[in-house]
Amino acid sequence: MRTFIIQMNHDLEKFELNNLTQNRIDLLARAVNAALWLDKTIRRDVIVYFVFNNKTVKVDPVGLKRMGPDERNISSFIKHTLDGRSFPGLEINGQKISDLIKGKKAYVLDVSGNDIREAGLDDNACYVLGDDAGLTVKVKGDKISLGPKVILTSHAIAIINNELDRREP
Ligand SMILES: C[S@@+](CC[C@H](N)C(=O)[O-])C[C@H]1O[C@@H](n2cnc3c(N)ncnc32)[C@H](O)[C@@H]1O
Repeated sequence: MRTFIIQMNHDLEKFELNNLTQNRIDLLARAVNAALWLDKTIRRDVIVYFVFNNKTVKVDPVGLKRMGPDERNISSFIKHTLDGRSFPGLEINGQKISDLIKGKKAYVLDVSGNDIREAGLDDNACYVLGDDAGLTVKVKGDKISLGPKVILTSHAIAIINNELDRREP
């Protein structure tokens, strides 16, 4: 099971679908897309957490139904959850990053870390990334880099998925 944890330097609040950049719900939606979607299907062996300042969104594709890969559709599930509806596979709770990585191997995605191509990755590990403001809390784990350029969170997730896919037996 791959776990992606994204630290969001924003609050999770109710939002409108025509304003997805508020508190970077657009970034969340793109990260869900990169973490879960394959062509015409979704990965079932991935869990994604978005740890906002005030709440955490958990997306577990096992049980997730009718979500499409586009930003607006993914965001609408988050919006309706915040408005009080419930959907299998989606949960809003108060978990902290320290709770999520407890007892697990954690990799911290950082441009100054060890090259991912040289790292012995663990498919069952947690991969911790920052949002548009970067990772601003200290997280205990091995730092790994995806290359010399700072890229988008969603692109970083896609690269990690690809690296892990390529190492599957
Ligand atoms: C948009 S970037 C953060 C940009 C932010 N302004 C900063 O300087 O950290 C979002 C996250 O993607 C990950 N990331 C981006 N580029 C990376 C790279 N080349 N290697 C490893 N992780 C990277 C990091 O976890 C980063 O916090």
